[in-house]
Amino acid sequence: MKLAIVGTGYVGLVTGTCFAEMGNEVICVDIDARKIEKLNRGELPIFEPGLEIYYERNRREGRLHFTTSLEDALPESEVIFLALPTPPGEDGSADLSYVLGVADQIARWMVAHPETGYKIIVNKSTVPVGTADRVREIFESYGLKAGEQFDVVSNPEFLREGVAVDDFMKPERVIIGTRSPRAAEIMTQLYEPFVRQGNPILVMDERSSEMTKYAANAFLATKITFMNEIANVCERVGANVDEVRRGIGLDSRIGKQFLYAGIGFGGSCFPKDVKALARTAEEYGYAFQILKAVLDVNERQRRLLAERVYDYFEGQLEGRRLAVWGLAFKANTDDVREAPSHVIIRKLLEHGADLVVFDPEAMANTRAVFGDALTYAPGMYEALDGAEALIICTEWNEFRRPDFQRMRNRLARPLIFDGRNLYHPKRMAEMGFEYYSIGRPH
Ligand code: UGA
Repeated sequence: MKLAIVGTGYVGLVTGTCFAEMGNEVICVDIDARKIEKLNRGELPIFEPGLEIYYERNRREGRLHFTTSLEDALPESEVIFLALPTPPGEDGSADLSYVLGVADQIARWMVAHPETGYKIIVNKSTVPVGTADRVREIFESYGLKAGEQFDVVSNPEFLREGVAVDDFMKPERVIIGTRSPRAAEIMTQLYEPFVRQGNPILVMDERSSEMTKYAANAFLATKITFMNEIANVCERVGANVDEVRRGIGLDSRIGKQFLYAGIGFGGSCFPKDVKALARTAEEYGYAFQILKAVLDVNERQRRLLAERVYDYFEGQLEGRRLAVWGLAFKANTDDVREAPSHVIIRKLLEHGADLVVFDPEAMANTRAVFGDALTYAPGMYEALDGAEALIICTEWNEFRRPDFQRMRNRLARPLIFDGRNLYHPKRMAEMGFEYYSIGRPH
């Protein structure tokens, strides 16, 4: 099939590249000329494991193209995916100006080119319930007929950064939100190669599909937040959250995944989507109490480690050298959007701390935020030189089994605040470290 992907962020790039990998002809569009230039030179603007191989192969074989011109992409494309940003506005509601703006451009182009055939417009971005209807209304306002000249489909993505390529190639489920049998048939054909092992393609109405995406993210954010609160109670009552996690995770109704307590959830999706769903509920006259609590608790959790450091040094952080390992909002990504590390760093800087930071992928993105306010170490051990404590913010694998002797030699004080529970408290004590983690006895 011939596809256009509008927006080359994480979602757009992964979507376009993976569809090309299945033999489709894909053209990706973005208004950012520098990004498109880079992509046409063979440089990926993001770090995403596994993406590069597919990107290179499909570009080489002429199935994956990049352009800044929407008009170039439209004539041939049967299905047009919108993978555009929907940033939260001041009140938490998603800003739809990009999505609606591009929909308007496509509709206008279709009216000016009546010879062009039937096209499906797919909302891949996470958009509030009712957006597919709004996009359809834009097309109808130009006199275009749903089911004949176009259809609008909601097709949310469930990609996790860091494993997005795997998630796309082998989705646990595909959700197609449309009441048009014609669109449902084409979309099903498009996704069938991805679910050969029998995972379901669920066809449902647009609003249920849009709601499914928010419900999934809000549920997962709630699950993490619940565990963070359990961890906070564990600390107070002398229990170990790791044991409790194992104890409850074996109940298949609860499940083992997404039960890791830490320093709060971050990233470009959970905080934004939880806020947006709470806001949507409010607009429809419903107070979504749990989500309000989730947001409050998460804010508190993201400050926790910084407060612990502050308390440990009795507020005397001025000029004190501290090391930070991990800046990305989670492992295997260079993404620092809403990263708990940045919340912690900001707090410690406010108190005058002298911070030396290291992350295997997210240094450049962090420098773009903090500039010269931080010292950027060339390696994980170098970050420790003369530091009076190490603060761990991201669960990168290379931090899991470090050379503890080397760490001790470099640190000015064998003190670790671990926001990701990477080490055993008992072993750390045996090695002479003073070690604080989340929800476990120390
Ligand atoms: C999330 C969802 O997992 C995807 O299904 C969804 O498609 C995506 O948002 C989106 O809406 O686009 P992502 O933001 O990449 O994906 O990251 P996750 O792996 O879900 O992690 C989110 C946050 O929760 C991270 O800050 C992570 O550190 C934290 N987390 C996760 C925990 O603190 N504990 C856990 O047990 C799991």
